[in-house]
Amino acid sequence: MNLNKTIMILIMGMVLACGLFSCKKAEETALDQDTELIKTDVKESKEGFDKRMSWWRKARFGLFIHWGLYAVPAGEWKGETKHAEWILTTAQIPVSEYEKFALKFDPVNFDAAKWVGMAKDAGMKYIVITSKHHDGFSLFDSKVSDYDVMDATPFKRDLLKELAEECRKQGIKMCWYHSIMDWHHPDYLPRRKWETRSTEGADYDRYIQYMKGQLKELVENYGDIGVLWFDGEWEHTWNYEKGKDLYAYVRSLDPDIIINNRVGKGRAGMAGTYDPGASSGDFGTPEQEIPATGLGYDWETCMTMNDHWGYNKHDDHWKSTKDLIQKLADIAGKGGNFLLNVGPTSEGLFPQASIDRLAAIGQWMKVNGESIYGTKASLFEKLDWGRSTTKKNTLYLHVFDWPEDGKLKVPGLLNKPESLFLLADPGSELDFHHEGNSAVVELPETAPDPINSVIVLKFAAGPKVISSKYIKTE
Ligand code: GLC
Repeated sequence: MNLNKTIMILIMGMVLACGLFSCKKAEETALDQDTELIKTDVKESKEGFDKRMSWWRKARFGLFIHWGLYAVPAGEWKGETKHAEWILTTAQIPVSEYEKFALKFDPVNFDAAKWVGMAKDAGMKYIVITSKHHDGFSLFDSKVSDYDVMDATPFKRDLLKELAEECRKQGIKMCWYHSIMDWHHPDYLPRRKWETRSTEGADYDRYIQYMKGQLKELVENYGDIGVLWFDGEWEHTWNYEKGKDLYAYVRSLDPDIIINNRVGKGRAGMAGTYDPGASSGDFGTPEQEIPATGLGYDWETCMTMNDHWGYNKHDDHWKSTKDLIQKLADIAGKGGNFLLNVGPTSEGLFPQASIDRLAAIGQWMKVNGESIYGTKASLFEKLDWGRSTTKKNTLYLHVFDWPEDGKLKVPGLLNKPESLFLLADPGSELDFHHEGNSAVVELPETAPDPINSVIVLKFAAGPKVISSKYIKTE
């Protein structure tokens, strides 16, 4: 082979290699762009998704309200007292009889300003209320239904309009819980097994059109709506495709709205987990439970303060304020939101135990809210004495169990903060040193808060934390 030939082959090889290389490059770029696309059913960049979710992620704490005709029987039917918002089904009340509760639904004490005020004072940033629960009754003036507060009750005031206006005034996001399952609408299928209503002529697609009609009213007539929180998606008549379509429909009405994962078919029961790449919805919905760790995507735990969502006058099994405040820190420390429920009476009042708990949480939030709002999950695997949250260069230590020897051990915290103080007393400067791989904070003798005292550590360039599983004795 002469020299020219060799040079030619070499040059061709280089061109080919370059070609291949640039192909590879292009492929990589395309892939990068693809990973930018959040695989919700409406195409959206990661940046767009983050922007849409940003108020919700900052908020961290919201109020759930379960309110409807079931507040009238208040959990009791024929001497049995275990019921609540499911009473139509759990007590097997025929629809025609259940409808009569509407005549007694007259919440004369309802005061939107007070309700929103209680949520706001508790430190909550959004309210999710049942526009329609499984019983099919609507709390708003729906033009596509007569089974609503305007047409079926003596009250005849659009409760959701009053609440939405008040939310706007007080800077709280208004959100709707809307049940896909509907035990009242004649087109909804399946019927409860014990029911005697005929299914002849029932048309599930027509039911979906009806539901979409209501959703259009709810999204378009009440100002800015933060979240559409679906539920009742588990029946066999609902499927993946319908969820996908409903998600796209609601986003077409309002591109900025946030939708929970119960719009689709992907939820794993009470754990509320799902695969956001494969099923519709923007966040997971653990119910009555807090996941052991973060989920790797957005999530919100919803929880009752006692044992029922709707009002049950016999239910006195209230969680303590301590428990609720620590749960809030636990959830924030795992990167989730907390949606805490109140079930008002048919007169329009929050149960006193709920009022007391909201007020007590509010006291704590007034001092410590900054350690919850806009924070990210803990950098620590486990902290024996409490929880932790982070925000930019700041680390918050939530101390549930104040150490008796005044030394708070923070395992794996490698660097020294620029300043270190109690959130309840920003003037306090605490001492800090290292003992092996643990940082030690010197605490005053008594905890500023017996439930959860927050310590703030500010770092020049953020905290450096190493997980204990990576620390070898060597
Ligand atoms: C359940 C119940 C319902 C309640 C909801 C709250 O799915 O069916 O009554 O509204 O949980 O998450």
